[in-house]
Amino acid sequence: MTTKPDISLKFWNHMSLPENIHGIRNYLLDHGAPDSVDAAIILGSGLGGFGSEIENALSLPYSEIPGMPQSTVEGHTGSLIFGEIHGKTVLAFSGRFHYYEGYGFDKTIVPVQIAHAFQAEKLIISNAAGGINLDFRVGDLMIIDNIIRQSKMLSPPDPNRLIYDQYELTNKAYKLAQESGIEVKRGTYLFVTGPNYETKAEIHAFRYLGGDAVGMSTAPELMEASRLGLKAVAISLITNAAAGVTDQKLDHAEVKEAAEFKKDEFANLVKLFISDLE
Ligand code: HPA
Repeated sequence: MTTKPDISLKFWNHMSLPENIHGIRNYLLDHGAPDSVDAAIILGSGLGGFGSEIENALSLPYSEIPGMPQSTVEGHTGSLIFGEIHGKTVLAFSGRFHYYEGYGFDKTIVPVQIAHAFQAEKLIISNAAGGINLDFRVGDLMIIDNIIRQSKMLSPPDPNRLIYDQYELTNKAYKLAQESGIEVKRGTYLFVTGPNYETKAEIHAFRYLGGDAVGMSTAPELMEASRLGLKAVAISLITNAAAGVTDQKLDHAEVKEAAEFKKDEFANLVKLFISDLE
């Protein structure tokens, strides 16, 4: 006898949010959060320091928010920050949730769902990634044009046959960065589940597949933003050459070092997107 997969159509109705997100929203409203924000930002590995750029900040640790997953990765502090940047109201997630930490994909997308619950008009996502493209150097910023998923299960089945549709803001973001004199690359982000780094042969294969950078986050978040009709733009900071690109050994310290080195430029790019990207 064959058993049908449980695709929980109830839960994943188009544009609906799971019940715990409403609970989180109510908790945040009770603790001084505004009713809505202009933009939301998910801060990647080592880029959590951006939180200090937020004015009139209200910072709420994930550990005190009922129903909120907890971040366990070094360099992700785990707090949700409401405040202002250049006069726009923002909601920043300092710390995200990765599949490799043991979270189901439904947990990795909680920040996107909270952003939607606060009616954010746009979502800016950042991450640290390994450079696959041989023209990329450590410290480069790459606007994500498209994603390649190693696992199609990274977003739950949507009865409406979810289509990735984050191209519009990407093009605008690239133009805006260029006009503002911020040097950015653009390319395809290839998602891996991690936690282990790739082999040289895998990176070689990924290059042939069309990947420019490889990382362990962001793709589920971009898919969820598509499902919710939330416009998103994602930026990778190339923190290391992916396996086999150079002879250097990969480690998390290198990722944090590159993030520290580029944090001002990254912050300028994010601020630009918050204030000028329509
Ligand atoms: N591989 C996968 N994820 C990463 C890397 C990498 O080389 N660097 C930063 N995140």
